[in-house]
Parts: sequence; structure tokens; C-alpha cells
Amino acid sequence: MEILIRDTPEEGAQVAAKLFKKILSTRPQPVIGLATGGTPLRLYRELIRMHQSGELSFKDCTSFNLDEYVGLPPEDERSYHHYMRSNLFDQVDIDPSRIHLPDGCAGDLRQACRDYEKKIKEFGGIDLQVLGIGANGHIGFNEPTGSFASRTWVKILSEQTIKDNAIYFDDPEEVPRHVVTMGIATVMETRHCLLLANGAKKADAVRRMIEGPVSASCPASILQMHKRVTIVLDEEAAYLLTFKDHYKWVEGNKLDWQKYD
Ligand code: GLP
Repeated sequence: MEILIRDTPEEGAQVAAKLFKKILSTRPQPVIGLATGGTPLRLYRELIRMHQSGELSFKDCTSFNLDEYVGLPPEDERSYHHYMRSNLFDQVDIDPSRIHLPDGCAGDLRQACRDYEKKIKEFGGIDLQVLGIGANGHIGFNEPTGSFASRTWVKILSEQTIKDNAIYFDDPEEVPRHVVTMGIATVMETRHCLLLANGAKKADAVRRMIEGPVSASCPASILQMHKRVTIVLDEEAAYLLTFKDHYKWVEGNKLDWQKYD
């Protein structure tokens, strides 16, 4: 795992955006996996800025999002379809026909999940997958104790995630209990994962992900087995890490071609 620790979330977003740009510029038709939640917002703002200044184009990109709530139509402001349009897609030059998100309102959800997996394969797999992490260690909407072999499917949210995500709803009762999410095995097949985490609320999950045992009780810990993962943390999210100084030492001794900044 490549661990990059920055003083602030803003600095983290900047290095993450540089990695993003590096991947986009080295592939003729990049396939990107995108995440929602509060954490990637700074990254998306930086990508929009890069696009506006002519440094970055999404015109040859295909995107696949990680997850969506069941029952929220794309026009619902709390849906991830809406989030992606307002926080990224509407402000860059991505071709709308190349945007993919799980359909939480499909008549046949199980078939829609199988089709989503098939689509990812048709496009040759995901080059760069952006991830956040839940306070309980979830990635996408893969909650603790879910199977590491899981594929895109309908999942039930834990009570903690419902509570955590209630800030985006008027009433916690309105948070859907069901979601469609890429599975852990889907994420593990991506060629490079970029996980962002900020703030002390994430510190315990971050410690378990990086330094804990690989266990389904912390789904993100499976990333220890992924061939290429970059984790960008602010100091607060990193404060429980035992080997924090080692990660900084490694970064300080990188060769030029290993650096993003
Ligand atoms: C949601 C999303 C995850 C995200 C997590 C953390 O549950 N499905 O993909 O990583 O929340 O969100 P935040 O970044 O708002 O803390």
C-alpha cells in the first residue's frame, strides 16, 4: 500500500488529483471508478479546476460509480446520480453516454446488478477507482462481515451507516435501507485504487484498514491484498497509525518517477 499523509484535506485532494491526472494522461480511453460522500468533494473540485484551466480532459473517459440508494430516482437531490451531476459531471467535458451508475430504481434489480458487472468488463475493467471509507470500515456500501467475493448486488445498510448518512436527509427514517453497490471482488479487480480519508472520525477505520488483520469485519482491510492502492490521509485520519513515520520516510525517499507532485 502506498500511504501519503498530508497536513490538510486540501493538500490531500491536490496530490490525489495529480495521481488522477497521471492515470488519465497515460491511457487513451481511461475507465474511472467514482465515489460519493463528503470526502471526494475536494478532489472533484480540484479536477474541475484542472479541467477549466485546460490541464485535464474527460472527453475520452468512461465512468462507473460505486453505489446508489435503492428507490431514489436520478432527479432526487439525495441520490448519487444527482450528487455526481452537480459535483463533477456537469462541470467537465465527460460524454454523458459514457457515464454509468447503478440503477437503484430498476424494475429487476438483480438483473441490473448483473448487467452492471457485465458493462464494466465490456469496457475492459476500471483503471482507477476512487474510494472513501465509512467509520465502520465499509467501502462502497459493503458493510462489515460482507463477503470478500461479492459482486455488484443489493445490500442492506448497517444501522451505523444509516445514522452516519442521515446528515444528507431531513429525517434518519428517510435514509433508504437498501442500496446497490459494486462488490468487494469488483473493487479488487480494478487496476489502481485511490482511497481518501480525512478527520479523526475515520482514524480507527484507517488503522484497521492499513495495519489491522485482513478481516471482513473491516471490509477496507482487503485492500492490503490489492496489487496497487494509494491511500491519501490528512494528519487527523492518520493519527492512530503505528508506522506513520515509516510511511513518511518511504514517501520522502521516492524516486522521481514514483512521485505525483
Ligand atoms: C457512503 C458511501 C461510501 C463513502 C462513505 C464515507 O456510505 N457509500 O462510498 O466512502 O459514505 O462517506 P464520507 O466521505 O461522507 O465520510
